[in-house]
Amino acid sequence: MSHRRKFLKQSLIGSAALFPGVVQADILSERKSLNAKKPLILSTWNHGVPANATAIETLSSGGSIVDAVEKGVMTTELDLDNLSVGLQGLPDREGIVTLDASIMKGNGECGSVAFLRQIKHPISLARKVMEDTPHVMLAGEGARQFAIAQGFPLEKEELSPKAKEAYEEWRKTSKYKPIINIENHDTIGMIGIDENGKMAGSCTTSGLAYKMHGRVGDSPIIGAGLYVDDEVGAATATGLGETIIRICGSFLIVELMRQGRSPQEACEETVRRLVAKSPNSKEIQAGFLAVNKDGEMGAFAVQPGFNFALGDMSSNELIDSKSYF
Ligand code: GLY
Repeated sequence: MSHRRKFLKQSLIGSAALFPGVVQADILSERKSLNAKKPLILSTWNHGVPANATAIETLSSGGSIVDAVEKGVMTTELDLDNLSVGLQGLPDREGIVTLDASIMKGNGECGSVAFLRQIKHPISLARKVMEDTPHVMLAGEGARQFAIAQGFPLEKEELSPKAKEAYEEWRKTSKYKPIINIENHDTIGMIGIDENGKMAGSCTTSGLAYKMHGRVGDSPIIGAGLYVDDEVGAATATGLGETIIRICGSFLIVELMRQGRSPQEACEETVRRLVAKSPNSKEIQAGFLAVNKDGEMGAFAVQPGFNFALGDMSSNELIDSKSYF
């Protein structure tokens, strides 16, 4: 059994324990509509299934929607099998893991951290930036110093065994080329809406493997990797950050929904825009998820292979997204 299949099976089994109704829907279009009952949580890739389970559990035990999206992606940040989120992720070209994360509430409050080292839960630090500073974004050494001041433990700076092996292999050629759907997951973006229509979102990643030291992707950029507005809806992104930043992807989706597009139409239009602005679009992957204030949802990606998890109080499904190509 491949690593990915094994992971998926374990994830689904884990969720099935919480939600007996867990199924895997093969093709999004097979569903009559992408509707679920509020509260609901949407998150990117197969690692979204266990993350959704944590988020729903948080809501069930009285947590708020922002607690849910923080705790949900913390599950992924701790997943030692995951090479694209958290300190166990793949490093930059110098062999150093740097993390990006953002969190946003539907009332406009938001926080993010970028180019962060040695902190296990960048999403929780992003929340601290949102709640305990006058700023939106802290980066690099400043973010690390803020983490220390807030009592976050500093982790040892060493690669996980899997990341080390992959990095040593990469160093044999040192070729810098994004790989489509690498391990079929990249970044966790999560958006949720509670039963009263309050929304929140989170996004966390170790970023592009073997990036230049100092590179920051879309995930910590409010409006690129994540955007939430209680008056309209929420969106999040995954994939090659540079292409998402150039079009302010998540903000664009929310603004298209504000103008009357459905979440699905807004995701599709945004991917069309991204493809039009990316001369190398055949070689890259980017995907988006959206939910509007009525709980309608959308998903679309550049390439086939993008999937996402949809969780509500009775089910937690992995669904394949439709794509441009
Ligand atoms: N979407 C994650 C990144 O490009 O860093």
